[in-house]
Amino acid sequence: MSQPGCDLGVIGLGVMGRNFVLNLADHGFAVAVYNRTAQKTRKFLDQEVGPRDIRAGYSLQEFAGLLKKPRAIIMLVAAGQPVDAVIREVMPFLEAGDLLIDSGNSHFTDTNRRAKQVGGKGLLYMGMGISGGQAGARHGPSLMPGGSKAGYERIRPMLEAVAAKVDGAPCVAYLGPGSAGDYVKMVHNGIEYGFMELIAETYDLLKRGLGLTPGEIKDIYQGWNRSELNSFLVGITAAILGRQDEGRGQPLVEVILDQAKQKGTGRWTSWDAMDLQVGTPTIDVAVMMRDLSGCKAERLAASQVLQGPRLVFGGDRERFLAKLKNALYAGMIVTYAQGLALLRKASEAYGYGLDLETVARLWRGGCIIRAALLEDIRAAFRNRPDLANLLLDPHLGQEFMARQTDLRDVVGAAAELGLPAPALMVSLAYFDAYRSARLPANLIQAQRDFFGAHTYERVDAPGAFHTTWTED
Ligand code: 6PG
Repeated sequence: MSQPGCDLGVIGLGVMGRNFVLNLADHGFAVAVYNRTAQKTRKFLDQEVGPRDIRAGYSLQEFAGLLKKPRAIIMLVAAGQPVDAVIREVMPFLEAGDLLIDSGNSHFTDTNRRAKQVGGKGLLYMGMGISGGQAGARHGPSLMPGGSKAGYERIRPMLEAVAAKVDGAPCVAYLGPGSAGDYVKMVHNGIEYGFMELIAETYDLLKRGLGLTPGEIKDIYQGWNRSELNSFLVGITAAILGRQDEGRGQPLVEVILDQAKQKGTGRWTSWDAMDLQVGTPTIDVAVMMRDLSGCKAERLAASQVLQGPRLVFGGDRERFLAKLKNALYAGMIVTYAQGLALLRKASEAYGYGLDLETVARLWRGGCIIRAALLEDIRAAFRNRPDLANLLLDPHLGQEFMARQTDLRDVVGAAAELGLPAPALMVSLAYFDAYRSARLPANLIQAQRDFFGAHTYERVDAPGAFHTTWTED
């Protein structure tokens, strides 16, 4: 008797793929694996697999033959062209009813295109965001699946088994048709960019503003992580600041080059937010600051000639620390508010039918933006599933307003010290704009009409109006 087929196949044995395979196997599933470079597959089998039921295919044909039918295959390869290449190469060995799942950070429009492409051959297709990095993949990621509902139901027991758990509930749920899963993962990453920038700004204010050492700053983040700020990113920031560079015997963070790289998901979030005309300024400036960090040589030259104010903090340090903590929390609320408002709009525009309480629920564990605050966010959407903006939730709105004075003080201090804190600044401006019954956009409309006859609407009469602003 030959062995029964494997429950699931995984293509791509990078660190995410290997760890996800081990996670699946540890939960009792038989996994077939394939990697383009056979050497990587052999090394994985020799060094990591042990007694687990993980079987290797050294060609895609052999790999497809290892799987139970209808087959289910997860692709964990780099986003973009490699996903198209894998689909093209594996398709000849698949049959109608087989399920293909892309778990790279694919652009949602690519997922829509690929779903059509493979759907034409009778295959089911899903895009499923995986968050939590390598540790998450190994011990419990947050999973954001979308696409074929029938496909999801088929693999649901496996996904629920391997996903992170919060209060016993798995951090996975079907999110919606088409590219809903990729879109939610993209916005997750946009929020991730926003948080990272907000935290980096507080670090800069503590370091250059107050002149604290990495060790002292580590203690502050550790304390914050035991408060309402409790989150994965604040926690790892404390750990990073506590790490010494073995070679030089000084804090490692001090010797890391200040140029932040990006694979693109934050930028995609901002792009699509602009296409859908949803304001996500905290995410936008987080992308902008990574871009600005990239021109190190120019910044070095500019630092020699462009002067700002003298960097002297004259206030009460303890009070400033308390304000900074509140400012960061307020910034986090606003970043979530922007990301979730974008999801709300995208859900309408792309027909995803997202349930935002579910999104908040599965972000509570396993993923990079997991934070204690998500419990409140979840409650906000449970109370009002159609909530237009998190700031309108009575509890979260109050949480923000209770901290707004501190956020204003921190933003003011950053401006006075000459330290860039754009994410904190625009988080505040977003709040002030959102709560403004009247913005100066009336003037912009008048200007547009002045130079381009673009017309404007009036507050006291319906219709489009044009004024002849000049004689000539
Ligand atoms: C996650 C991360 C993961 C990856 C980012 C990094 O949820 O586990 O978001 O997807 O680390 O893509 O993105 P950048 O390279 O753009 O910073």
